[in-house]
Amino acid sequence: MSPRNIAPGDSTWNLCPVSKELWTEGFWPGVLWYDYEHTSDPEIREAAEKYTEALEFISEIPAYDHDLGFIIFCSYGNGYRLTGNPEYRDVILATADRLASLYNPAAGTILSWPREVGNFGGHNTIIDNMINLETLFWAAENGGNPEYAAIARSHADTTMKYNFRPDGSSYHVAVYDPESGRHIRSCTHQGYSDSSMWARGQAWGIYGYTMCYRFTHDRKYLDFACRITDAYLSRLPEDMVPYWDFDDPGIPDVSRDASAAAVVASALIELSGYAGGDKGASYLSAAEKMLCSLYENYRGGDSCPAFLLHSTGHRPAGTEIDYSIIYADYYYIEALTRLRGLR
Ligand code: GLY
Repeated sequence: MSPRNIAPGDSTWNLCPVSKELWTEGFWPGVLWYDYEHTSDPEIREAAEKYTEALEFISEIPAYDHDLGFIIFCSYGNGYRLTGNPEYRDVILATADRLASLYNPAAGTILSWPREVGNFGGHNTIIDNMINLETLFWAAENGGNPEYAAIARSHADTTMKYNFRPDGSSYHVAVYDPESGRHIRSCTHQGYSDSSMWARGQAWGIYGYTMCYRFTHDRKYLDFACRITDAYLSRLPEDMVPYWDFDDPGIPDVSRDASAAAVVASALIELSGYAGGDKGASYLSAAEKMLCSLYENYRGGDSCPAFLLHSTGHRPAGTEIDYSIIYADYYYIEALTRLRGLR
């Protein structure tokens, strides 16, 4: 069982079975690995290993979904970074093989949701998929198939074209003809509307293109990361934590998404170093303001064991609205760790 969320007013984590139906199982071991990084506590390491190793089966079964990267890189990726355990590396490389099997060369992207091909009317690629490219880039540099870097680049380039609008805001989903690869349409699934900017989707894009620059040093990814960051920052409310979708007409009487703020804060700390100069300084300052706001206004407390309150999971489906959600905590502790690394 793996912690997933806490309902508003509740004081215990709702647990989900570790199964292939979810995408969030890597975040709890990831939180434990960051905790271990800070404390060197052997009990925390033991727990991190236990929750990480429960996920090994994901690398052994056919790919059912693109979120293999989220699951395995947050757990095994952090575990390998901190311990150098070669078995962890092998699991990441095997997962990269699974993930790459979802790549469609005609479309130039990974199929995000095989189960939704019928509903969307084609090969679907969601903006969240940008995060999973980290596993492919990393595998290409660490003994896996070197072709995976080209797959990741193709995915990033195609997503740049079809998951974004000219103003730098993102579409959640792009749909392609699976045979010819022709782009059919771009739309939403978890956002307010096909033309709106879903906050966490934009956050995944900012984080994803920043990470693409880390691996490739290709200036186009840096420029793009800055452009979509500016689209996000220019529309934030005063407390730097977005409403769940920037275009919900019910603002300000709708839920926030602390998870999006945590993802962006973490990404901006990295991006600030690449952008440098005044631009970099302004991104770092924005990230610090986001983290202060999350700490001051959105944190759990004695009655709630999550780091953060007030995230929105899937508002159109009516699920996890104004909840604590495990991925918010993961990106929050990652952001704080990155910030401490700068000091
Ligand atoms: N990857 C799904 C989400 O961000 O909710």
